[in-house]
This record gives sequence, structure tokens and C-alpha cells, in this order.
Amino acid sequence: MQNLLVTGGAGFIGCNFVRYMLDKYPDYHIIVYDKLTYAGRLENLQDIQAKHGSRLRFVRGDICDASAVDGAVRAYKIDTIVNFAAETHVDRSIMNPDAFIQTDVYGTYVLLEAARKAGNLRYHQISTDEVYGHIHGDHRSLETDCLAPRSPYAASKASGDHMVNAYHITYGLPITISRGANNIGPYQYPEKVVPLFVTNALNDIPLPVYGDGKQMRDYQYVMDHCAGIDVVLHEGKIGETYNIGGGKEMTNLEMVQILLDELGKPASLIQHVEDRQGHDRRYCMNVDKLMALGWEPQYTHEEAIRATVRWYVENRWWWEPIRNGEFKQYYERLYGNRRVIA
Ligand code: NAD
Ligand code: TYD
Repeated sequence: MQNLLVTGGAGFIGCNFVRYMLDKYPDYHIIVYDKLTYAGRLENLQDIQAKHGSRLRFVRGDICDASAVDGAVRAYKIDTIVNFAAETHVDRSIMNPDAFIQTDVYGTYVLLEAARKAGNLRYHQISTDEVYGHIHGDHRSLETDCLAPRSPYAASKASGDHMVNAYHITYGLPITISRGANNIGPYQYPEKVVPLFVTNALNDIPLPVYGDGKQMRDYQYVMDHCAGIDVVLHEGKIGETYNIGGGKEMTNLEMVQILLDELGKPASLIQHVEDRQGHDRRYCMNVDKLMALGWEPQYTHEEAIRATVRWYVENRWWWEPIRNGEFKQYYERLYGNRRVIA
């Protein structure tokens, strides 16, 4: 493993993964292959480029474009593909599922074909806890659980996972899959709940909590996720899937309280609004399988939330232009006419 194609590497988790890997492995070269949708930004890579120079290269391209993917694999002598590229936001998938099916399903297939045609390259798929659907009682999802996705986003990611497994079983492609919990940290597009709420609060705009706010998520610091992916990539058993998360959940209202406390902002900013359609009530995964490989999270939920809040406080240069661009129309469309319930 030396020449990695990191698709979606200009997005939130991808750019943090590239940062982590180039720092840790001085002999690795990374080619970021990214379409630069609204969520992909070259600014996310600028400090890494300055630090690592030619060990990082950028190719603008769509993972659905087979000849462009094949060309990049050949030109850069790729031996490993790590696929982060995806449409990722549940609310956008509810408004317009089409791009999710294109990228998360068809795009995954194109990458698998590229890996197969190039002589069965090592392939790692970045997936999500959302493929398990929302879970009941005190169960924690296991890698062997049946997939039961409920949103167009989750269904397209689950389809991607099935295709990855099919390529392993049918063609012997050396794959692994990791399923991450809700990530938070630097460079997350402010449509996702934590950066949305921090940046709203900094502007004294109400925080639109969906429904009663008692839905549960396992908010995980992105660098813990990246370290887990690294372990799966190097120590994971070929053909296997690994959950990556804190293994504990909290309610959205608990998350908001920590966030407001770190900012020194009042609870009166909380505004309960009409719930998301088909809103998954609870995600939580069992992460024993990855921990058995020696990985463990470095951040508690609270530390993860506080560190994320501080990054947004200190990096207005990054998110202010985003909030003043395409995001404005998106925000108006999703929240403009949303019913306030409390
Ligand atoms: P993101 O939306 O921040 O970034 C996605 C990146 O993919 C962007 O750079 C975008 O330009 C690129 N991209 C989108 N469509 C593309 C295409 N057709 N061709 C090439 N590039 C394309 O997403 P993220 O939060 O960094 O998520 C990365 C991966 O991790 C996704 O596969 C997602 O499903 C998974 N995941 C995310 C979370 C989370 O909490 N954010 C949790 C678990 C798993
Ligand atoms: P999100 O960051 O969209 O991640 P996901 O839906 O993939 O878990 O949302 C996290 C939680 O926050 C989820 O329960 C939905 C909730 N949420 C709100 O209450 N208000 C919002 O404006 C958003 C975007 C999310």
C-alpha cells in the first residue's frame, strides 16, 4: 500500500483522513479524486498541500465517470481505493434522492469495476450506521445485523455496501467496509446539525431542533473515525465489515446543551420545529470488533462537541463564505416555512 486514491477527499471526513494518513505514513502518496459538489472544497486541503507538497495530488472528477476513474488509477499507479465520495445529507436526500442513487450506488459500482479491471486492487468502502436503520430498546447494531435503511440516503449507502460485498464474493476483490457513527469536527459543511447549530448560535439565529429533540446519536470526533479507518485498512480482515463509533449515544437536546454551554449562549435559542419525515429515532453500534484490533476512541462525546465548537469559533474564514453562498437558498427551502412547534 503506497498510492491511495481517496475519492471524496475534499469533503469533511475525507480531508481529515488525508491529513491523518499523510502525517502518519511518510512513504504514502494520496490522490484525492473529487467532483467538488457543494460539499467538496479545495480550502479543506490547502494546509495539507502546503505541508506535504507532491505527496498529495488533486484530480477533479466524478466517480460515475468510468473512463476518468480508470485514467486516474492508471496514471497514478493506484494500489488502494478508499471511497468517501457520496451525497451525504439525509434532508437533501428527502428533497431530491436522484443524486444519491447516482453517486452512492452507481458511483460505488464504477469504483469497484475500476478496482477489478486493474487487477483486484485493495478497496475500502466508507459506510454509515444509518444502513442499520433506527434501532429499538438497548440494542447496539452488530456488523452481522440485517440492513434496514429508512431514508433515501441510508438506502443508497446500504446498496453500495451490498455491491461491495458482492464484488468480494463474486470476483474475490479484497474489500473491507467500515460503518461510522455521526461524525463531528473541523470542515463539516454547516448543513449537518452540530456545525449548523454552532454557526446559527454565533449569529444569534434560533436552533431548529426537529420534533422533541430526544432522538439519539453517537456523536464521534472525526479523528477517532479516521484512526479507525486506518486500523481497518491495515489490520482488518479482507471481506469483513467494522463498526466505528463511541458505542454510546446521547439525545440531540443533550448535545445542544453542551454546545450552548461551550459558546456561552442561552437555551432560549432552541426552537422545536416540525420533525424530519421518517426521522430515525436512535442509532448506536457495538464497536467491540474494531476494539479487538487495538483501536479505541480518544475523545468522549462531550470533548468531541466542545472541540468542534471551538474550531468553528476560530475558523469563521472557512464557514462564513459557505453560509453566504448556495447554503442560503438551501436553508430557506428547508427551514423557511417549517412549522415551529415550541
Ligand atoms: P461530505 O458531504 O462532506 O463530502 C462528500 C465529498 O464527496 C465531497 O467532497 C464531494 O465533492 C464528493 N463527491 C460527491 N459526489 C461525488 C461524485 N459523484 N464523484 C466524486 N466526488 C463526489 O461527506 P462526509 O461527511 O465527509 O462523508 C464522507 C463519507 O463518510 C460518505 O461516504 C458518508 O456516507 C460517510 N459517513 C459520513 C458520516 C458523517 O457523520 N458525516 C458518518 C458515517 C459515514
Ligand atoms: P444530521 O447531522 O443531519 O445527521 P443524521 O440525520 O445523518 O444523523 O442530524 C443529526 C440529528 O440532528 C438527527 O437526529 C436530526 C437532528 N437535526 C435537527 O434536530 N435539526 C436540524 O436542523 C438538523 C440538520 C438535524
